[in-house]
Amino acid sequence: MENRTEWMKDYLKTHNVALIGFMGAGKSTVAKEMGHLFSTEQIEMDELIVQKEGMTINEIFAKFGEPYFRNRETSLLKELSNGHGSVISCGGGTVLRQENIELIKKNSRIILLTATPETILERVKDSDDRPILNGHKDIDFIGALMKKRRQAYEAAADIIVATDDRNVDDICMEIVDSLMKLEDTANV
Ligand code: S3P
Repeated sequence: MENRTEWMKDYLKTHNVALIGFMGAGKSTVAKEMGHLFSTEQIEMDELIVQKEGMTINEIFAKFGEPYFRNRETSLLKELSNGHGSVISCGGGTVLRQENIELIKKNSRIILLTATPETILERVKDSDDRPILNGHKDIDFIGALMKKRRQAYEAAADIIVATDDRNVDDICMEIVDSLMKLEDTANV
């Protein structure tokens, strides 16, 4: 653990880590824990957009529509694309735009968090903060949307980590181990 912490702190001096994946995959929870474990900044894309716009995500979608929200994601990534030292929790739809993937890849390694539709439903069922899921909180809808997005998620990812039935520390450790291996390979 200590080795990993030191390695990760050092790594973050030159990189960001971006967490991607379906709504409810655990991006915010894992980002928060990584921020805590590695004393690093945690960036919540959704939260920053909400702050900048002075509206909730539901209100942004209702008032201006999804394309407007997607443009806000791209603008925010442009602002973030030169920094380092952060764990960035991306919105679940961020990497559906190729331009966004390229912006993230400028300074971040991309970690895809996955979970089954059953796990996702369990995690999102009590929240109404996600316009895309409101009125569709069922396995069929989640499974179908996940299938539609899977290829884009996987193509963007440097590392894929499953989160079903696991605690957050365990997931964080796997992320660091995988990053260490990836960077080792990249340096050969
Ligand atoms: C979205 C995911 C949400 C948020 C918006 C759209 C999506 O973020 O950006 O509601 O299209 O998957 P989380 O994945 O953090 O819930």
